[in-house]
Amino acid sequence: MINNWDAADWQQQDKAHVWHPFTQVSYAPENIIIESGEGACFIDADGNRYIDGIASWWVNLHGHCNPYIAAAVTRQLQQLEHSIFAGFTHKPGIALAARLLGHLPQFAKVFFSDNGSTAVEVALKISFQYWHNQGTPKTKVIAFKDAYHGDTFGGMSVAARNAFNAPFCPLLFDVIAIDLPTAENIEQVLSHLEGVLKNEDVASFIFEPLVLGAGGMLMYSAGHLQQLIDLCKRYHCITIADEVMTGFGRTGKFFAIDYLERTPDIICMSKGITGGFFPLGATACKQFIFDAFISNDKMKTFFHGHSYTGNPVTCAAALASLDLTESETTKAQIDRICSSHIEFAKELKQYSSIEHVRHTGTVLAFDIKTDESTGYLNSSAEPLAQFFIKRNIILRPLGNVLYVLPPYCITEEELEKVYEAIRELLDK
Ligand SMILES: Cc1ncc(COP(=O)(O)O)c(C=O)c1O
Repeated sequence: MINNWDAADWQQQDKAHVWHPFTQVSYAPENIIIESGEGACFIDADGNRYIDGIASWWVNLHGHCNPYIAAAVTRQLQQLEHSIFAGFTHKPGIALAARLLGHLPQFAKVFFSDNGSTAVEVALKISFQYWHNQGTPKTKVIAFKDAYHGDTFGGMSVAARNAFNAPFCPLLFDVIAIDLPTAENIEQVLSHLEGVLKNEDVASFIFEPLVLGAGGMLMYSAGHLQQLIDLCKRYHCITIADEVMTGFGRTGKFFAIDYLERTPDIICMSKGITGGFFPLGATACKQFIFDAFISNDKMKTFFHGHSYTGNPVTCAAALASLDLTESETTKAQIDRICSSHIEFAKELKQYSSIEHVRHTGTVLAFDIKTDESTGYLNSSAEPLAQFFIKRNIILRPLGNVLYVLPPYCITEEELEKVYEAIRELLDK
């Protein structure tokens, strides 16, 4: 039962009882109470519509309350809401694993968890235990300097050391950080990587393919990534693609690794996997990795699982979302957003107040020039977010990095409204 409070009461109850993520209450504005969602928009209690320009933290693909996904969820809820996933299995879980592997022909098995952080945590634990099970334990991980892989301890460990994890730094395991490759530094990055692979006991290399999201929407080329992966393979280092943000069409192809000729060994998925309906994590691995866990020795088992692992309702949402993601309509929507971003990026390059205009697929980003240090704590973020909220648009800059990452169903008109607000900001 939801209480029958008035608008002011809801605000007061929110302040009194809820601890919101990534929010400093001493200066954060009042939270907007969302009543409903429709297409690429939210509607608040006063009937104001907001265009969700960042797909609700990058999860929503086909629109809020998408009726096709909602119907699939309703059907599943009437059949089986949840069951233990060890010793038991169910059709939505089996079908989803098979369906995901259909897009990942070189992968063999899917392990379900709860969100992006746990998908990464599972990948890291699988890679460490892979070596352990063979009697050659390895403890080092290689990651990009500006990486973000989630808020659990493994995810934080393999991420950049910054505001997100400063209080926990002494507790995080050691990671060898390498620079993001560019045309200028690729040789140095390769030689640094090779030195590390030769001299350290490296279990795995984890990376966000093509776009480093929370690190500031930093982009790099598939060709350079391929060189890094190939080098890791030469030294038998497990490669882990964290596709939590980039998966399910975000970069223009189904997965960002589809831009590669030779695939990594493990892939982490979440966010868009359910079209933004439910939290779900999935980690897929190749057969040789799974084989290292098959043994009569019980200690070689992967002793990991979450209470809601493989929840059938989330799997049903994911299957319905995949129906839509694979459709010609969605492909056309993605192509349209990609083309619009390309055109708008050309226009943006003429503004002297910004730099590093970049785009990959449906992600468009640029840096607002600033005298302060850049990064997540840059003070431009809050006033910029408020500027857009006043124009009924949800954009949430990462410090001085402004980006647009919309649901695929955003209409041309809505996307143009987002661009128009950005023009207004930059014309000031
Ligand atoms: C690349 C990447 N990995 C992992 C995560 C963590 O996902 P979640 O917030 O669902 O735990 C994120 C979240 O932004 C992400 O962008």
